[in-house]
Amino acid sequence: MNLTGKKIVLGITGGIAAYKSAEVVSRLRHAGAEVHVIMTENATKFVAPLTFQTLSANPVITDTFAAPEYWNVKHVALAQLADVFVIAPATANILAKMATGIADDMLSTTVLATKAPVLVAPAMNTGMWTAEATVQNTETLRKRGVHFVGPDSGILACGDKGAGRMSEPETIVEAISDILNRKKDLAGLKVLVTAGATRERLDPVRFLTNDSSGKMGFALAEAARDRGAETTLVKGSTTAKIPDGIRIIEIESAADLLRTMKKECCTQDVVIQAAAVADYRVENPSATKIKKKKGEPLVITLAENPDIAQAVGTMKKNGQTLVGFAAETDHVLEHAAEKLTAKNLDMIVANDVTKPGAGFNTDTNIATLITGNGAEELPIMRKRQLADIILDRITEIRNS
Ligand code: CTP
Repeated sequence: MNLTGKKIVLGITGGIAAYKSAEVVSRLRHAGAEVHVIMTENATKFVAPLTFQTLSANPVITDTFAAPEYWNVKHVALAQLADVFVIAPATANILAKMATGIADDMLSTTVLATKAPVLVAPAMNTGMWTAEATVQNTETLRKRGVHFVGPDSGILACGDKGAGRMSEPETIVEAISDILNRKKDLAGLKVLVTAGATRERLDPVRFLTNDSSGKMGFALAEAARDRGAETTLVKGSTTAKIPDGIRIIEIESAADLLRTMKKECCTQDVVIQAAAVADYRVENPSATKIKKKKGEPLVITLAENPDIAQAVGTMKKNGQTLVGFAAETDHVLEHAAEKLTAKNLDMIVANDVTKPGAGFNTDTNIATLITGNGAEELPIMRKRQLADIILDRITEIRNS
């Protein structure tokens, strides 16, 4: 990791996790960053400012004895200097202040004034983290573009178990690096991603579906958004959290998806189809709830669904890049390569869903990227990391 010359302002608020921030500072310094620490008065009760002064090799700003006039001078300088503004640990109190714009000490004043990206690493008791007030404040901050890392779950300092532990220093530093090194290489492009499972109705209360969580598609949409693309997410049934800053179109069945894609795909530069589409639908769905007939089997006839990726492939316009997914259990590469051709795709992401750590409902994936030029086998990695590699390859295809 190289953060040479990057200027990081690190705010430390009053929580027991403050001691872990010493490691954050030392890791950032090792990576070449310039670090400026601001501590709230409460934070200084957990760790002495001298620790951070020594590790950062810069004076630590605290407001223990400082008057508001002093903040007005100092905070502007730090707010403007930051390439990224980090608060770790972030208490429920600082999140509430940030959400409402309260500026009553050096840290809250400086973070309010900054135009730099802000990353917070919350740390608090589970009850405080899940309290409606904190949930709403967090939601407000996310909508404004504040980045969050953690909190993790586990045993907390107060003895409770649950979400509220500050993320590990290594994870916080990785999140800082991700923000600083984020490429905007997709700026000006329109990217559409499909995600999640389709539902095929039997009757008003029942449907056929599959195990897709939508996590891979969401990771792709988030990565495209972060890299500057105007991003649309066409989503079926999902369990993943809906990302901000992305246009969302909800669909239920394969028929809905086809209709949506016919309307949307011709204006897109890149179309990535990660949705798990049902190959069959119920031929005659019932308009009313199907009643049980005791002792008789229920026979349902399934009709073949249209292949949406194939339909998008036949409509492909010049300069457009089409990417599909192939979830396979056997002969992975052969089956995926057949789909690449049949659906007129530029790239297909093949997964062997029988491998642990790959496929549905996991946070990781194991993929092979197949193009007309060959196959690139990738190791197990987080879906977000894979999403960035897929977007890197798409950029290479578009530039070739
Ligand atoms: N797909 C689609 N429409 C369908 C089925 C699949 O658009 N009716 C898309 C998926 O979004 C994915 C790709 O085609 O990008 C491959 O999906 P997959 O389910 O692996 O393959 P199928 O073509 O359905 O073939 P099979 O189920 O026989 O493996």
